[in-house]
Amino acid sequence: MHILHVVGARPNFMKAAPVVGALRERGVKQTLVHTGQHYDANMSDVFFRQLGMPEPDVNMGVGSGSHAKQTAEVMARFEPVVLERKPDVVLVYGDVNSTVASVLVCAKLLVPVGHVEAGLRSFDRTMPEEINRLVTDQLSDFLFTPSEDGDINLRHEGVSPEKIHRVGNVMIDSLVRLLPTALQCSMSALPERYALVTLHRPANVDDNQVLRRILQSLLDINKNLDVVFPVHPRTRQRIAEFGIDVRHLHLLEPVPYIEFLALQSRATVVITDSGGIQEETTYLKVPCITVRNNTERPITVTMGTNVLVGQDIGKLRTELSRILDGRAKPGTIPPLWDGRAGERIADILLRVSASHEPQESRLSAAHPSF
Ligand code: UD1
Repeated sequence: MHILHVVGARPNFMKAAPVVGALRERGVKQTLVHTGQHYDANMSDVFFRQLGMPEPDVNMGVGSGSHAKQTAEVMARFEPVVLERKPDVVLVYGDVNSTVASVLVCAKLLVPVGHVEAGLRSFDRTMPEEINRLVTDQLSDFLFTPSEDGDINLRHEGVSPEKIHRVGNVMIDSLVRLLPTALQCSMSALPERYALVTLHRPANVDDNQVLRRILQSLLDINKNLDVVFPVHPRTRQRIAEFGIDVRHLHLLEPVPYIEFLALQSRATVVITDSGGIQEETTYLKVPCITVRNNTERPITVTMGTNVLVGQDIGKLRTELSRILDGRAKPGTIPPLWDGRAGERIADILLRVSASHEPQESRLSAAHPSF
């Protein structure tokens, strides 16, 4: 069996690493394709190194652009890669533009696709990632879900149950593996207590007034509790564009994976609009305040430490006071978030491949000229 993985953006790397590792241990032939959606060294290269991922076999260098342009570029550059490499299965991760673009290519070439982190829904179609999730899941053949809500969403959308495999959370695999290293990481000049902040959702950072209001609330929080804020390139661009004064905040460049785990595990509270960080804080049992009205990861709210406050600064303050008063919401770790999701995915793929004809014939059938 030959598995081709597609990764493109920062949150893909920690999800792919455990699957690549588990397939490597089982002696499976693999090809790693990086679309180049994220290209800065501190958004990409350092993650590969820390996660022990092999160098990509193909780097498509797609870079930034509008959604249409980025998606189209990935499609145009990925199609010849699939035709040349002839994988039996393509694995895609998460909900970024690189994910949906590669699935569209595979669906038309009749190459089977596995979606890792399937079934998550925010039910908010103004989020570009929600569109990516819906399309990716409709077109995938193996849907690897992290939790029961994923299975339920997929069944509601008519996905046939035999395609759905609940394997647990691959992102937590990477966390479990690298947390001991992170806990030994010395972070110099870090305050004893701090709020760790990340913001990059277009809904929070692309509008001048909204971003100004959120940053002002962080400046207020910073008077009593140090705010440590590794800034995503999109957010840094907007802060500069809108001319917002953030000199009093402790701004950092994007932080490598292990250092970011260290920052999360020691934080008094995390304030974020990220998807993955809601899950990591739930696992670490660190209080998390999410600056969004909805989440595609509701289990972090029902079982974990996550609270949604939207863009309501009053609610943000109330939740923060509750945490600082020692009344943070307790949380438990969801089932199957145990560090073994990657192994489960590898075992399922091997089992299926043992019971199927080799897939090369499907590629040739779709494109008789090859
Ligand atoms: C993407 C994903 C989002 C994910 C996030 C994590 C989509 C639709 N969005 O959002 O789901 O949570 O990544 O980071 O795929 N830039 C750089 N250097 C980089 C990468 C980006 O400077 O290495 C800048 C670019 O100028 C770009 C902007 O950041 O315009 C946004 O990058 P983009 O890939 O469009 O989306 P993200 O906001 O990072």
